[in-house]
Amino acid sequence: MSRTDDVAAVLTSYPQNITLDDDTVLTLRPATPDDKEAILAFAKGLDENDLLFLRVDITKATAVNNWLKNVKSGNTVSLLAMDGDQVVGYATVDTNPAYWTRRVGEIRINIAAALRSKGLGRHLTSKIFDVARDLGLKKIIAHMTPDQAGAQAAFQRLGFQPEALLADYIEDRAGNVHDLAIMSYEIEGLTSQVDEPLRL
Ligand SMILES: CC(C)(COP(=O)(O)OP(=O)(O)OC[C@H]1O[C@@H](n2cnc3c(N)ncnc32)[C@H](O)[C@@H]1OP(=O)(O)O)[C@@H](O)C(=O)NCCC(=O)NCCS
Repeated sequence: MSRTDDVAAVLTSYPQNITLDDDTVLTLRPATPDDKEAILAFAKGLDENDLLFLRVDITKATAVNNWLKNVKSGNTVSLLAMDGDQVVGYATVDTNPAYWTRRVGEIRINIAAALRSKGLGRHLTSKIFDVARDLGLKKIIAHMTPDQAGAQAAFQRLGFQPEALLADYIEDRAGNVHDLAIMSYEIEGLTSQVDEPLRL
C-alpha cells in the first residue's frame, strides 16, 4: 500500500462531530489540499503572541502550500476543527520517512483563542494520537518555547513529558532568540523514558 492509501485507511471514520465542555459542537475532518484559504483565514485571526511562536508560519501562503503538499503526499496528516466552513483549530502530525526518524511524529496544535480551555485541545490530541498510532508511529514530540507556559502546562496535562531544552534555537518573528523545549509522548511506552523528567 502507498503512504496515501495508509493515511486514507486511518481516516475512514471522519468527519466526526465533537462536543466541547461548554456544549459547542464542532466537526473534525481531515485537511485537504483545498483548505488553503480557510487555513490562511484562521491564521489571520490569531493574536500577535500566538503568531510570534508559530512553528510553521501559517500566515504565509507559501508555508500553507508546503503544509498542504505534505498532506497530499501523506507525510503530514492534519485534522481541522470546523465551525461551519471556518477553521477554529487544528492538530497535525508530521512524519519523516527518513530511516532513523520514521517512527517519530511531530505534533502541532493550534486553537482559536476564543475556543481554548474548553477541551478542544484534549479532543484534537486524542484523535491525532489515534491517527499516529494507526500509522505505526511510536513516539510523538511537540516543540514549543519555555516562554509558552500555558502550552507547556496543557501538554503536560495531556500526558507529554519535558524531554529536551535546546539553547538559543529559535528566532521568533520579531527577531528575538528563544530556547526550544521539546516535549514527548511515548505512544507505546517504548524505551528510555526518563525517570526524572528534565526541568525545563
Ligand atoms: C496549547 C493548546 C493546544 C491547549 O488547547 P486547549 O483547547 O486550550 O486545551 P484543553 O481545554 O483541551 O485543556 C487540556 C488540558 O490542559 C490544561 N490547560 C489548558 N490550557 C492551560 C493553561 N494555559 N495553563 C495550564 N493548563 C492548561 C487544561 O486544564 C486541561 O487539563 P485537564 O485535561 O486536566 O482538564 C492551546 O492553548 C493552543 O492552541 N495554544 C496556542 C498554540 C500552541 O502553543 N501550541 C503548542 C505548540 S504545538
